[in-house]
Amino acid sequence: MAFFKSKEDRQVQVDFDHLPRHIAIIMDGNGRWAKKRGLPRTAGHAAGAENFRTIATYCKDIGLDYLTVYAFSTENWARPQEEVDAIMNLLRDYLKESLRDFKKENIRTRFIGDRGPLAPDIQELMEEAEASTAHKDGMTLNIAVNYGGRHELVHAMRRMASEAAQGRLNPDEITEDRVSDYLYTAGQPDPDLILRPSGEYRLSNFMIWQSDRKSVV
Ligand code: FPP
Repeated sequence: MAFFKSKEDRQVQVDFDHLPRHIAIIMDGNGRWAKKRGLPRTAGHAAGAENFRTIATYCKDIGLDYLTVYAFSTENWARPQEEVDAIMNLLRDYLKESLRDFKKENIRTRFIGDRGPLAPDIQELMEEAEASTAHKDGMTLNIAVNYGGRHELVHAMRRMASEAAQGRLNPDEITEDRVSDYLYTAGQPDPDLILRPSGEYRLSNFMIWQSDRKSVV
């Protein structure tokens, strides 16, 4: 057990001998946070993005291995266009800022989800972020954008079926571990904790293969 000074200079206790390896966060409650303050939902998303910067730096500083954030789901496209645009702009800002900070941060950034429908400049920023941090050996940050757990499984199944059809994958050798190798999170440990700050107890199509009831708090 050791005391760790947080960014706000508050002293918090961190048990370094029992740190989880992987924490996943379903970012929600932004809209409700804004509504309570009489602000537009987009102001809630801006505050959420800002808060996430603090959380990511903190997790890296205490030595967490993997942090995953659910930033935009396959279902989020159904929100009003104005809100989708605002979220995409916040993501753009975050990526541009991160690219500037990556030189000093030891964070390896990866994106999980289907990038195809995203704006080309966002896809480029994602590629740049992944390429420029591929050699970092500190925390791995997975940012889930246009991510859906069901979509991830379909994507994995298509790849497995195609490899089987080409004779490169023996169907009899498909095990649970093998399926994990075809997910966006291949090679990473499953999350020990899934946090949902709004207090709801639903996965909302997030990491459905990588989760089990025990790991959901
Ligand atoms: C959920 O809150 C939040 C979102 C759908 C979008 C969050 C994404 C960003 C802020 C973009 C930036 C991302 C990063 C990683 C910095 P909600 O609208 O569902 O809130 P509610 O549950 O109160 O309605």
